[in-house]
Amino acid sequence: MSSPSSADTRTDALFAPAVDAALSTVRRNIPTFDRLYPADTTDGGRYPLRPAHGAFAEGGNYGWTTSFWPGMQWLAYERSGDDAFRTAALAHARDFDRRLRTGEDLDTHDIGFLYTLASVAPWRLLGDEDARQTAIAAADQLMTRFLEPAGIIQAWGDLADPHQRGRTIIDSLMNMPLLMWAYEQTGQERYVDAVRRHTEQLRVHIMRGDDSTFHTFYWDPVTGEPLRGATEQGAHDDSCWARGQAWGIYGFAMAYRFTGDERMLDAAHRCARYFLAHLPADAVPYWDLVYGDDSDAPRDSSAGAIAAAGLFELARVETDADRAQQADADARRLLAALVADCAPEPDTADTLLLHGVYDLPKSNGVDEGNLWGDYFYFEALTRATNPDWTPYW
Ligand code: GLY
Repeated sequence: MSSPSSADTRTDALFAPAVDAALSTVRRNIPTFDRLYPADTTDGGRYPLRPAHGAFAEGGNYGWTTSFWPGMQWLAYERSGDDAFRTAALAHARDFDRRLRTGEDLDTHDIGFLYTLASVAPWRLLGDEDARQTAIAAADQLMTRFLEPAGIIQAWGDLADPHQRGRTIIDSLMNMPLLMWAYEQTGQERYVDAVRRHTEQLRVHIMRGDDSTFHTFYWDPVTGEPLRGATEQGAHDDSCWARGQAWGIYGFAMAYRFTGDERMLDAAHRCARYFLAHLPADAVPYWDLVYGDDSDAPRDSSAGAIAAAGLFELARVETDADRAQQADADARRLLAALVADCAPEPDTADTLLLHGVYDLPKSNGVDEGNLWGDYFYFEALTRATNPDWTPYW
């Protein structure tokens, strides 16, 4: 992989054609999937339909990644003004209304990922009242996972599952915006209280002293005592899963936007410093930051895309001009590396970004495109080329 030159990172000339390529891929994928959903990851650069699973038919709306598909359509609509994107994304919004109403596959903190992009986005962009009602109900569903006395939102599984009880994960920071949006809409303090307590628990316990992060952390569900960190998708319990660190950059930057708590801003900078200091020379992260320049470990382009989008958010919320400028430059450097090394040649793939990793320990989606990598790559390109863009989060 090549190193992006600093001249490239300062110019939009690199990013504008990448936005056009993203628009064209999203446009091409709409008739392929119609009202259905792509799988989490590509297979040889092409997204199959989401596999049938339990009671869900092929292409069904289950799992944590389906909203990234309408999320990309909303980005495309904003960029182009083309009603074809709006129509497609609104059809998915109605399907997410149905998923919520019928209670399908909602036992997860990922309701925040799902309903921010599927429902808050159309509310923000179009004032869609059905989407607003659905998003508030989704926030209430997420609140059922808030555990006293630990003060955390349980990440995965049934609340009674002994293996998952009292466990949360760094990715959960990205689910907080749904609660903050519900607070803004309703004025109910319980949403913002949950955000403050959950993010503070993560800041104190999921971050390590060297500014790396655990993927997951357990609290005693009865006493609320912090217990131990462990990984699920990283190399080891003590390593630093690259995507988790990237969720930390973006998630803590937003926690600062929501709470004004300077310690959250500091946490975002700490996550960013560690991430940037553990990149290879070409700035496309290995899937776990334990690997260095001499490694042949797979890269995770999606971690780079999330980190780039998160650094743009950090640049937006940071009030110190020098620090903001540095975060913006770092975001552009990461994004330029993705454009140079991970964007497919035109019309050769239906993913926006090659070379992602879903879950290497489970050999799932290794060196493939994935829906979240595509979404955050498109979001980062949007932020790079339109600094006035209003986040859905
Ligand atoms: N949020 C799940 C993942 O990043 O794999």
